[in-house]
Amino acid sequence: MALCRPGFESECANELISHLARTGINGRSTLSLESGQLRIALDNLHPFDALDRAIRLVSLTFARQLSFGFAEVHGLDGKDRVSPLMAAARLAGTPFSAILPEAADGAVGRPLAAICRRLQAPLERGFDRHSLVRPRRGHLPRLNILLAAPGSAWLGLSSADNGSPWPMGIPRLRMPSQAPSRSTLKLAEALLTLLTPAELEASMRAGQRAVDLGAAPGGWSWQLAHRGLHVTAVDNGPMAAQVMATGMIEHVRADGFTWRPRATVDWLVCDMVEQPARISRLVADWVACGRARRAIFNLKLPMKKRLAEIDVCRGLIRKRMHQASLGCELRIRQLYHDREEVTAYLEARPSS
Ligand SMILES: C[S@@+](CC[C@H](N)C(=O)[O-])C[C@H]1O[C@@H](n2cnc3c(N)ncnc32)[C@H](O)[C@@H]1O
Repeated sequence: MALCRPGFESECANELISHLARTGINGRSTLSLESGQLRIALDNLHPFDALDRAIRLVSLTFARQLSFGFAEVHGLDGKDRVSPLMAAARLAGTPFSAILPEAADGAVGRPLAAICRRLQAPLERGFDRHSLVRPRRGHLPRLNILLAAPGSAWLGLSSADNGSPWPMGIPRLRMPSQAPSRSTLKLAEALLTLLTPAELEASMRAGQRAVDLGAAPGGWSWQLAHRGLHVTAVDNGPMAAQVMATGMIEHVRADGFTWRPRATVDWLVCDMVEQPARISRLVADWVACGRARRAIFNLKLPMKKRLAEIDVCRGLIRKRMHQASLGCELRIRQLYHDREEVTAYLEARPSS
């Protein structure tokens, strides 16, 4: 079972099916367009551990949340949804480390999301009473309860390290009052989603140097400055006064495709509106040449063949890194704050 941005169900399903097929697991998708949710029916039964190893959320672009279904419940009554859900959950034969009532994003799921929020506490109490939830036992699977309609739910398992920590895969981030554009939340979410907390702590520190290509009005630069990084913001457009007031930002009016730093920077971020392949070549070149140690960049997707376009970008980046005798860590995700776009993380690794 997967949740994604409404309108991207086909991309999400095709990506999941091809990832599974690479590990010898075959299945077909059942999806309704614009629903923001989908299910892949597998041809054979597979144990949870095998599926959990075969498919990793971090390597997928379009799935926001992922779980492996084991039961469906229909005829749920608004007066007591907890008892039938708990009876079905027992089919998993294990206690859970967490209970996540979830609904899809968009028009279909929105009213169900309100029910999910109301269900959270009663579910936790009910499961706890029967020793079916053990929050401190992180190795146990989480129970994802996807409310498909007010009266029906799909139950699935996910491991804590292979699923979004946020219900529905949506981080609820507060818009910082000093940031000039909502786009600031995209970089905030990217840092939380594309890196683990340990990776982020190890790789982003106050005092580092960053370059922001296509920086204006400064939402991404503000995120970096707020974390204590010195930012060179490259854009011919104007930067917002409150961003420049942080004192951490130098604004350079130049073309982001030709401007180069004098020395290696710790981070490159790039949000220029351009062909995804052109951005991919540019960012890969920065990392391959050692101009930046790591990069976060946004790729604006075409209306059609979006999955194919992402594959082209992956190929271009890997090829450029290979030419420099380097491997790479490349993660491409469609964030909650992304629209017709995806956000990527690139870091050079020794060639294997
Ligand atoms: C989507 S906006 C960036 C928003 C920004 N990340 C923020 O959070 O405020 C894209 C920016 O890219 C800039 N841009 C587009 N092409 C560029 C280029 N070749 N060189 C520098 N900046 C460019 C535009 O001027 C525009 O300000």
